[in-house]
Amino acid sequence: MTPAFVDAHHYSETVLGHIAEPHNVGAIERPDAVGRGTNPSCGDEVTLYLRFEGERVAEAKMEILGCGAITASMSALTDMAGGKTAEELMAITPEQIAEHLGGLPRHKRHCAQLAQRVLRDALKDRA
Ligand code: FES
Repeated sequence: MTPAFVDAHHYSETVLGHIAEPHNVGAIERPDAVGRGTNPSCGDEVTLYLRFEGERVAEAKMEILGCGAITASMSALTDMAGGKTAEELMAITPEQIAEHLGGLPRHKRHCAQLAQRVLRDALKDRA
């Protein structure tokens, strides 16, 4: 199994792919939930939009002002969120986000943590 956080100073092919072409970029016009978050130490800003159909996510999109690792983390998260219930979203961990990316450098762990924080912020907004 791919380790979530690796001792590396380069990104995996998967991370590079998400940075080059991030998935689900933009806003949702009438979202059911919006989450926002900032990392004060780097100034990166993230917004996550979720639209539910019944209990499950029908659409997840994001807007980012930030570094490659947070771009890749949010891109992965919007892929992972599709079809999930709020309860399943609550269970997503930074490790799972990093695993989805084929591993993130250990010093970029806070980017996956910011993605999780923004997701939880969106779920609070929906509650
Ligand atoms: Fe900004 Fe990771 S470097 S969130």
